[in-house]
Amino acid sequence: MRVLGIETSCDETAAAVVADGSHLLSSAVSSQVAIHARYGGVVPEVASRQHLLAIVPILQRALSGAGATLSDMDAIAVTCGPGLPGSLLVGLSMAKALAASLELPLVGVNHLESHVYARWLEGDPPPLPLLCLLVSGGHTELAVMHGSGRFQSLGRTRDDAAGEAFDKAARLLGLGYPGGPAIDRAARRGQPCHLLPRAWLSGSKDFSFSGLKTALWRYVNQVGGEPDDLAASFQEAVVEVLAVKATQAAAQHKVQAILVAGGVAANRRLRQAVTAASPVPVLFPSPALCTDNAAMVAACGYFMLQRGHRDGPDLDIFPNLKLGISVA
Ligand code: KG4
Ligand code: ZN
Repeated sequence: MRVLGIETSCDETAAAVVADGSHLLSSAVSSQVAIHARYGGVVPEVASRQHLLAIVPILQRALSGAGATLSDMDAIAVTCGPGLPGSLLVGLSMAKALAASLELPLVGVNHLESHVYARWLEGDPPPLPLLCLLVSGGHTELAVMHGSGRFQSLGRTRDDAAGEAFDKAARLLGLGYPGGPAIDRAARRGQPCHLLPRAWLSGSKDFSFSGLKTALWRYVNQVGGEPDDLAASFQEAVVEVLAVKATQAAAQHKVQAILVAGGVAANRRLRQAVTAASPVPVLFPSPALCTDNAAMVAACGYFMLQRGHRDGPDLDIFPNLKLGISVA
């Protein structure tokens, strides 16, 4: 079964063709990073306009990459949330038009859930139950996956997402945008010699990174320090909290493995720290599948279709969609 996936939730316009939820036939991504770099972050109105310009060429690239045409597709999967409303609407409108004109089933996919399904495109499916640490520019979520589409949310960020914290820290340090890869590189040159605060939020699986950002601001503007050392110290503070909370949750919930997904999962130090501390195997999608793409959307959509899920022409966007059922 060939699923055409469409992703436009933030600043990447993406389309992909995936067979049977696990065989990647093509994945095309048009990034707007260069356009938003001059503003130091994503400008929503600019993002939706760029999606409009890119969506048709990206669909054509995904189809030709798979050696297929629209008539070879069996279903359409599209991100319906969470994300920027104007951006989500571009992908959803295209998906609805394709599904209606081709008379194909349509499924609206949760972007957060799809980040997890990226790992289903690479090798054997992960063992369940699985502890998922989802760290991206917009989200930081800790959840247990018990079965297909069955997520138990344990905690999430109370303020900045991990990737957003990296982006803001890089801006403070004058390292450019996007900040995650820039901090990752600078940290390799520096030493984590400054002790920046960790928000443990004891008794909770939630995260908070805004205090850390303020502490870094103090170092940059008042205390001083080498930018590379500050980058390494900042990265260490973020990574330590993520790694400790994820590995503690893994032991507590007796999971079979940990999956780290989302753009920040590309971080070298995070990969090392979670792997070193984990009592169970740690899995990561490859870097190209960690950042936003439509292959993960098509994979997730396939498993929704397998569960009998179908959406109609009234499918809407859900800009604040959450992952799974929250537990107290
Ligand atoms: O998953 P993603 O592409 O988009 C969202 O859904 O948000 O994640 C993008 C985020 C950005 O904040 C970027 O700075 C961060 O992932 N990122 C990294 C690294 N590569 C990308 N953060 C830390 N280290 C990296 N190597
Ligand atoms: Zn994402």
